[in-house]
Order: sequence, then C-alpha cells, then structure tokens
Amino acid sequence: MNQMNKSKNWYRDAVVYQIYPRSFYDTSSSGIGNINGITAKLDYLKGGPEGLGIDAIWISPIFTSPMADFGYDVANYTDIDPIFGTIKDFKNLLEQAHARNIRVILDFVPNHTSDKHPWFIESASTRDNPKRDWYTWRDPAVDNGPPNNWLSYFRGSAWQYSEATGQYYLHSFLTKQADLNWDNPEVREAMKQAMRFWLDMGVDGFRVDAVDGLSKDAELRDEPLAPYHDPAVRPYNYTDLLHPFSRDGPHLYERLNEMASVMAEYDNRFMINEAHPKGDDIVVGYAEYYAAIDPDNSAPFNFQCIYLPWQANAFRSYIDHFQSTMLPNYTPIYTLGNHDEPRLASRIGIPATRTAAMLLLTLPGMPFMYYGDEIGIENVAIFPDQVRDPFAEPGKGRDPERTPMQWDASANAGFTNGQPWLPVAADYAERNVAVQLANNASLLHLYKSLLKFRKSSVALREGSYQSIDCGEQIFGYIRKNESHSLVILLNFSDQAQPLPESLQLEEIMLSTISNRSIQNSAWLEPHEGQIRGLKLSDFNC
Ligand code: GLC
Repeated sequence: MNQMNKSKNWYRDAVVYQIYPRSFYDTSSSGIGNINGITAKLDYLKGGPEGLGIDAIWISPIFTSPMADFGYDVANYTDIDPIFGTIKDFKNLLEQAHARNIRVILDFVPNHTSDKHPWFIESASTRDNPKRDWYTWRDPAVDNGPPNNWLSYFRGSAWQYSEATGQYYLHSFLTKQADLNWDNPEVREAMKQAMRFWLDMGVDGFRVDAVDGLSKDAELRDEPLAPYHDPAVRPYNYTDLLHPFSRDGPHLYERLNEMASVMAEYDNRFMINEAHPKGDDIVVGYAEYYAAIDPDNSAPFNFQCIYLPWQANAFRSYIDHFQSTMLPNYTPIYTLGNHDEPRLASRIGIPATRTAAMLLLTLPGMPFMYYGDEIGIENVAIFPDQVRDPFAEPGKGRDPERTPMQWDASANAGFTNGQPWLPVAADYAERNVAVQLANNASLLHLYKSLLKFRKSSVALREGSYQSIDCGEQIFGYIRKNESHSLVILLNFSDQAQPLPESLQLEEIMLSTISNRSIQNSAWLEPHEGQIRGLKLSDFNC
C-alpha cells in the first residue's frame, strides 16, 4: 500500500498544507472536524482527478487534550483525542496519505503540557513528588505575589499559585498550560520518547510549537520594561516587556539539536520550528538558527512574509536579504498564513490573493499553505457568544481564521451534519471548493496550475533565486538551474504596470489571469503575476 516516493530529502522543496483539524471536515456529525474527515479529503489534496497537488500535510495537534487551547494543551503525547478519533484512525490516515505520496507532519508541543497531564497532576501534588522538578515551581515573593515579573503571552502573570503546595508554577501561555522544565534531563528524555513513538509509526516530521521557551534564565531574573512603555499611561502587557530571560535562553539551540538528532535517527524526516528570533535584524536571527541547528533535519519557520506590508519593495528587500543567508543545505520556509494570524485574503484583499499564490509557490524551499487560502476564505465575523479562542479579547482572537472549510453550497458548507463549532463564512454558497472546481478561472484552479507547474519545473523547485529590478510596483525574480530559467513578475499594485522591454519578448508560461491573451504582453494587468520562460542572453533589465 505504501506508494511513497522514496526520494531523499523530500522536504527540500515540498509544498505543505496546514490543516486545522477541528475545521477541516467532520464525518461524525459532532460539529468538529476529525481524522477520518482528513482521510476522506485526501483525494482533494492529492491523488484524485481534482487533486490540488500538495506534497505534505501539517495537522495542528490531535493528541489527548482538554482543549483549553484546542490541542496546544496536551494531556497525553502518545494518544489521539477522542474528539478527533483513535490511533487506528490515525494509522489509517497515515497509510492512505502515504499511498498518495502525501507526507504527514504532526504538531509537537514541547514547551508545556495541559494541567491535566498526569505528569503535572503528580508534580502539583506534593513538594517532594518525583515529578516536582518536571515543571518550574517557586515560592511566592515577599509580598506573597508571583516570584518574578514574567508575563503570560496570553494575559496576566506567567505564574499561577497552587494552594496544595503553597508555591507558584510557571506558564508562558494559559494557566492550564504549565511549562515543562527543560533543564531537567528526564523531561528531555520523555519528550524524545514521545517523538519516537510517532516517528516509529511512520510520521514524516513535526512542526514544533513555541520553541522559544525551551531554555530560560536559570535565575529567573525580572524582565526589563520595553523603552517605549510608559507605566503611567497603562499597566504593562506582554509586548511592553523585553524578554531576555523567559525566552531564547542559553541552551535553546542545544535542545533543538537534541530534538533534531532524534529526527536523524530515522530516515528522511524533518522538523520545522516555530521560532521567533529576536534582534534588530531578524534575518540574522534566522541565519543563526540555520547555522546552529542541524539544517539537514530542521529549519525555522520564516513568518516575516505574513507581517510585511503588501508592497513589492518590502517583499523584494526582505526576501533578497533572507535568501542571501541561505546555504545549499538550508531549507527556506515561506508562509503567508496560519491558525494564529488573520486570513491572507483579509490582510491583502481578494484581488491580491492570486498574486500571493504565485509568490508563495514560486519561491525556493518548502512553502506552507493554510487550509482555505486556496479558495480565498476571509476572516469570519465572530459574535461575542461564538468566541471560542481562550486568547480572545473582545473583538480579537484567532477564531476568525479558524472557521470551517467551505466544501460546497449545502448546509454548513458541507463541513458537518452537526452544529459547527465556529460559524461558517456567510459567503460560503458562492465561495467553496465545488464552485471553484467547476470554474477554470477560480483561485483554486490557479493554485492547482501553480502546483502542477512547480512539480514539473526543476528550476522552480531547486533553482537559484535572483531578484531583478522592474520598478517600484513589480517584484520580479529569476529562478534558474543549469537547463532552465524562469522569470516571475508580480504586480503588487492595482494599476497596470509596463514591463521592461527585454522581458516583453519572453513567452508567458503562466499568468494569474486565466484567460489572459498573450497579445499585449508589454505590461502586467492590475495584481497580475506571470511566469515567463527566459532566454538569459536577451535579458538586460
Ligand atoms: C503556538 C501555537 C498557538 C498556541 C501557542 C501555545 O504559538 O501556534 O496556536 O496557542 O503556541 O501552545
């Protein structure tokens, strides 16, 4: 049954599709997506006649969890939560995915466990429990308050008092997500064992959550106020402190390497770290990650393209800078969206989503797509009584980008026969997979064409990257290997843009405008992206 392409280093150029499992497809009528739902949609992703053509899926956490942070609060690292199914369902998914040559990446959450994890329950029970030191416990400060000024990323102090033993425990996120103590070698060993459990089963890799916290200051020193913060104006919150002590501590790279070395025990596996390097020049921070942590088995996520303003110059200068640090055995990880950030279509506007698709799928490395972006799902308005995200403050939170996938025009967009856990977008009858599959000019068709093009083009998958100067509004770059050269031209503006004469001569191989006439090829239409075959001898712009 295992038809998987055995090619070494599959991850170097794989296109990964992130699935937020609660919202993908529900076969149980619970209103929450499940593992069998993912299996049922594998042909959509790849394999069937309508297949999108991705290479791998990353599934946000499916382990046993009280779901305080929807799976990012793990209560058992080696079992599946019943909401999502069983180990048997997961093994079936793995087998079915591999049969279609789809790799499976799980979401590993090493920084913290649920407060319902048996390790934490033991640890919290008595001060002399053998698991006490698996978490960080400290006496109250002299005023009985928290031991230091560290803050939770979500809100309030990073410390929670526990009556039973009269001490505080550390939690970088919710109080229900207690931070593991990675200084304890038993913890490190337990986490490596959990990784091996899934790798032994055949999982192809991990996306590793919130790695910044895996090493912290041993003395737990207070963090300084950010210089711009004025405590007279308002009490400080997470972003008003600098975080030299609670994150990115002295053993971080060593610990990530320990995890990477587990990957190296197996053939052809890869981990992608949710890293947020600090410093004035973030590219230097990323470069440090690549240099320090075995790049043959891991890479840091590069989130900057989510935060950049949608301007050709901004993308060009950032990507030029980033690519200039990439060595041949580094895998760049570009992404334009995930379950923590507002939807791509809402950030840049629907017309630009076509340009963004071409950008993401023509850059070097391992691009990550977020489910639903291929049909242009936008942020969905969430009424106060519909809020589910524990991080949410009124009007904020991450629910708007986590709403159900829109499969067709039937009730609940064909996502569930039950009551969906989050509302479905109001426009689902017009914006859904079935409608877009039937329309050759749809965004979904463009994604399929781009994925097909990428698959057939060694220059796109393995070639070098070199940007070219095509004016303020166009981000242009060449992808080139020994035999082929392509130029990618992306109009970031809503106005038509003339092209340099040297490029006008080249053949348009793919445009984001499906029915574009190849006449009039002297300019880019508003928001248009083009891939052109390039004869380098002609090129002088
Ligand atoms: C990561 C996840 C986010 C989660 C947090 C705590 O940032 O992406 O969804 O809430 O870690 O685990």
